[in-house]
Amino acid sequence: MNCFRLEYVYVSNIKNSKIMSYNLLKGKRGIVFGALNDMSIAWKVAERAVEEGAIITLSNTPLAVRMGTTNELAEKLNAKLIPADATSVEDLEQVFAQSMEALGGKIDFVLHSIGMSPNVRKKRTYDDLDYSLLNTTLDISAISFHKMIQVAKKMDAISEWGSVVALTYMASQRTMFGYNDMADAKAMLESIARSFGYIYGRERNVRVNTISQSPTLTTAGSGIKGFDGLVDFSERMSPLGNASADDCANYCMVMFSDLTKKVTMQNLFHDGGFSSMGMSYRAMEQYNKSFEEFRDENGKVIYG
Ligand SMILES: NC(=O)c1ccc[n+]([C@@H]2O[C@H](COP(=O)([O-])OP(=O)(O)OC[C@H]3O[C@@H](n4cnc5c(N)ncnc54)[C@H](O)[C@@H]3O)[C@@H](O)[C@H]2O)c1
Repeated sequence: MNCFRLEYVYVSNIKNSKIMSYNLLKGKRGIVFGALNDMSIAWKVAERAVEEGAIITLSNTPLAVRMGTTNELAEKLNAKLIPADATSVEDLEQVFAQSMEALGGKIDFVLHSIGMSPNVRKKRTYDDLDYSLLNTTLDISAISFHKMIQVAKKMDAISEWGSVVALTYMASQRTMFGYNDMADAKAMLESIARSFGYIYGRERNVRVNTISQSPTLTTAGSGIKGFDGLVDFSERMSPLGNASADDCANYCMVMFSDLTKKVTMQNLFHDGGFSSMGMSYRAMEQYNKSFEEFRDENGKVIYG
C-alpha cells in the first residue's frame, strides 16, 4: 500500500499554506455532490480529493449549476459536472452511470453534501411549520441520501470497501436554537447511515458514515438564524476551536481512504471537541460579561 509515502508532495494552490498530499486516494474514483461556490464544504473536499490522487465527477442541481460557480471548479479539476436533483431517482441513476463511464469503473467514494430547508428560507418557525415544505426539507436533506445509496447498490456502482459519507450537524441530537426542521432532517440522515450501513456493509463491504461538522460559514450555514452567534459560541466552547471547511475536507480524505476500512455506521464528530463539552472557561467569561450592564452603582447584579 502506498498510502504513507514518506516523500510528501507539496501542493501549493491552496491559499498561502503548504498542504501536504499523502496520495491517500491514488487510483480512486469519486463523486462529490453539493459544491456550490468556493465556500462550500464540498468544494474543499473536491479539491483535496484530486490533490490526494483521485479522479472525480461533480454534481449539483441544474439551477445551482446555472447560478453558482461549480463549472469553474469542474474546469479547474478536470472533472465532469453532472447536473442532477438529488431527490430524483432517475437523475441519480444518471449521475452514477455517467460517472462510471467518465471515470472508467466503479466508484470508490461518494460525498453527500446537500442540505436545504424551505421552512428556514421562508422564516417559518418550528412551531409554525408548513408541512409540505417540511416534506421538501426531509426529501432534499435526508431522503436524498437513501435514494443515492439505494441507486448505487441496485446499479452495483460502488466498489468493495467503498466509502459513502454525508455531512451532518449536532442539532440532530441536541436542540440548537434556530436550526428548525433541519434538526429533524439531520436525525434522519444519521439514521439512514446506520440502517443502510448495516445492509451495504454486510452484502458488499461498503462503508456508510456521517461526519458531524462544526458550524461553518457557507451559503447553507448562513441561512440559520443567529448563525454568527452560534459560530462564536462553538468556537469558545471547543478546546480545539471550530473545524473549518478545509479541516472537514482533510477528515473526508481519511474516511475515503483505505485507512478507515472498518469504520461504518458511525456519526463521527468533527467539531474541535464541542460535542463533549458542557461549559468552557472562555464561554463562561463571555456569558458573565453580559451581566455587567445590569449591575447597580455598588457593583451588585440587579437582573440575572
Ligand atoms: N455550514 C455549516 O455550518 C454546516 C455544519 C454542519 C453540516 N453542514 C452540512 O454540510 C452540507 C453542505 O453544506 P454547506 O455548508 O457546504 O453549504 P452549501 O450551501 O455550499 O451546500 C449545500 C448544497 O446543497 C445543494 N442542494 C440543495 N438542494 C439540492 C438538491 N435538491 N439536489 C442536489 N443538491 C442540492 C446546493 O446546491 C448546495 O450546493 C449540508 O448537508 C449541511 O447541512 C453544514
